[in-house]
Amino acid sequence: MGRSDLAIRAALALLLFGACRQAPRAATRQAPVEAVPQLTRSDRLLLAAASIALPPEGVAPGDLPEPRSRGAQLVVAYCAQCHALPTPLAHSATDWPGVARRMWLRMEWLPDSLKVQVPSMAERYEMLQYLTVNALKVSGAVLPPGKGRDEFALVCSRCHALPDVRVHSAADWAVVYARMERNIERMKLAPPTGQQAEDILSYLRTAAGGGRAARPGAK
Ligand code: HEC
Ligand code: HEC
Repeated sequence: MGRSDLAIRAALALLLFGACRQAPRAATRQAPVEAVPQLTRSDRLLLAAASIALPPEGVAPGDLPEPRSRGAQLVVAYCAQCHALPTPLAHSATDWPGVARRMWLRMEWLPDSLKVQVPSMAERYEMLQYLTVNALKVSGAVLPPGKGRDEFALVCSRCHALPDVRVHSAADWAVVYARMERNIERMKLAPPTGQQAEDILSYLRTAAGGGRAARPGAK
């Protein structure tokens, strides 16, 4: 709670700062800005909505797949300016282009006074390449049968596409599942019920890939 209040206050400060410093440019562009901008209800709604399902805290540059690659270094340089460092594993290769497009827009059209570093076209290409090559591996159209399949399909597709159950061994899924519960909390979603958690874990155990754990993205 305290932390999210802080985040919202920081966002408000940014917004106010940007609006004040930008008055002349904004005036020539479009609607005139009043002397002291009041936060309207929709400003507050937007800030609150934008803080849900943001990349969760806790990913360090060294945790990224291929951390020494240029793609990873560009993501570290550009993508942690407004929120916590995102990892390519947070989205499927199909979803990354759409997410990246929103991010390019947001970086490009912020007021200059906020001094956001904007990547060149070549750098965007490299980042998108890196994000898609190291992306979350998604499940096929047909899920292996098993108790808990529906709960898995429901809960595990909320923030990213439904993952491939074969990428981890039964033992590793317990660890990944615990991390997802932490993501759910940090990204401000409601946790699964006790029964859902039990069913999903038992489904992951039965449908899991066997043998050596495959960490997607990692070599
Ligand atoms: C100028 C600020 C800014 C920068 C820089 C930025 N983001 Fe974001 N990002 C946002 C905002 C605002 C949101 C919440 C609204 C939304 O999801 O579009 C967000 C949300 C996200 C989310 C969570 C939403 C989702 O669809 O999963 C991901 C993942 C993300 N950003 C990845 C990135 C990546 C990757 C980069 C670098 C290429 C990046 N961001 C750079 C502002 C930024
Ligand atoms: C609140 C949003 C959210 C929900 C709900 C969620 N995830 Fe994730 N997931 C993430 C984020 C963020 C990442 C990237 C960071 C990380 O790996 O923790 C991720 C990454 C992953 C990865 C790739 C990383 C790895 O270690 O293999 C797998 C697999 C995964 N999730 C499985 C699941 C499963 C299974 C569920 C359902 C129990 C689930 N996720 C529900 C946010 C979520």
